[in-house]
Amino acid sequence: MDKIVIRGGERLIGEVEVSGSKNATLPIFVSCLLSQGDNLFYNVPHLRDVQTIIKVLENLGVRVSEKNGVYQINATEISNDEAPYDLVKTMRASILVLGPLVARMKKATVSLPGGCAIGARPINLHLMGLEAMGAKIELRHGYIEAKADVLKGANISFDTVTVTGTENLMMAATLAKGKTTLQNTAVEPEVVDLANVLNKMGARINGAGTSLIEIEGVESLHAVEHTIIPDRIEAGTLMVAAGLTRGNIKILHCPLSEMEMVVHKLRESGMEIESEGDGVRAVGMKRIRSVDIRTQPYPGFPTDMQAQFMVLMSLARGLSVISETIFENRFIHVSELRRMGADVRIQGDSAIIQGVESLSGATVMATDLRASASLILAGLAAEGVTVVSRVYHLDRGYEGLDKKLAKLGANIKRVKEGD
Ligand code: EPZ
Repeated sequence: MDKIVIRGGERLIGEVEVSGSKNATLPIFVSCLLSQGDNLFYNVPHLRDVQTIIKVLENLGVRVSEKNGVYQINATEISNDEAPYDLVKTMRASILVLGPLVARMKKATVSLPGGCAIGARPINLHLMGLEAMGAKIELRHGYIEAKADVLKGANISFDTVTVTGTENLMMAATLAKGKTTLQNTAVEPEVVDLANVLNKMGARINGAGTSLIEIEGVESLHAVEHTIIPDRIEAGTLMVAAGLTRGNIKILHCPLSEMEMVVHKLRESGMEIESEGDGVRAVGMKRIRSVDIRTQPYPGFPTDMQAQFMVLMSLARGLSVISETIFENRFIHVSELRRMGADVRIQGDSAIIQGVESLSGATVMATDLRASASLILAGLAAEGVTVVSRVYHLDRGYEGLDKKLAKLGANIKRVKEGD
């Protein structure tokens, strides 16, 4: 397992490109299960999670190839309707194949994803929606067995806003008989990008991006070409890196219009963030002001930026409170940040951060994707050397983050375990 070694204190200066969005790519790749023909995708990020979803699709008989970064996915033939535990356990977003498989194949056997580091992450709402559309669902030996001779349009309301729950049912409804309405849906940009792809395939979806989505079922969907939207969480992570190092960077392909709350909070902390030609300029100041945040579904402050923002607050002047309302255990990074000198106390769903003058480099361990990014960020600002182990977590959702930071002037390198 690789490690990343950082000597802190370097200001980040220069230009950096944001890659395609992981959380748009995963449902869009899965949506090919609904289509016939060769789909082509551009701006796909090179990530472990993308490689995993490709394995899940290939296991179903889908043909996937890549040439010069362009991915071709053809699901005309689906020879298997099972997503096995050994694949699903490595990435819970694999549950996204459930709805499309039932819609296309009339049945599916998908391993229950189980919990993960940041929470139990149940999928009851995914199953509730499919049952409302006429699917028969049985849970046996850790697997979901779903069957439906025909999926019928239904009126479905989500008790909780769920991103992949919205995506799963929106995909299933595209081939159902009749009209489906989804209420209290997720409005994330990645949900909208998926709906755009489905409509290009011939689906009839209205309202994506609002909390009421209407889907008129159609007979079949055809293949499309699509360019994946940029990753707003990677962009936010790079902005925090500039804020932590009094850096001055220009971020290309930055989806600024999808980052209003993040940018608002970073400006409140003292950063300058402005559009500049074909990119966005992000400038960090010597004095970081303390800011409170509360994670919320989009367009609120994203939970996927919580750990990164906590690192910035750990060096702010004064006290800040970070409330995590989406997942019940998304403060795992706190114990490692404390080892680097951060003053953070947890009270219920909130973390109380007292800013300190400096962090000190340490050997730390990544536990999940965004926690690993936060440890890299802390290393950029810390005095001395930080060694982050288990960086396979990082590679799940960031395309060459260490290389991008090195290009901006960070003293950072990846070493093989045992080197
Ligand atoms: C998506 O996960 C993202 N993953 C997550 O990003 C992100 O943190 C999360 O949305 C919230 O924005 C992908 O898009 C692949 P949810 P998802 O269903 O869909 C509860 C990252 O770092 N819930 O929106 O799994 C759930 O427990 C990852 O890139 C139910 O109770 O999250 C949670 O408390 C991490 N029942 C809340 O809803 C359900 O059936 C939101 O979860 C479904 C969800």
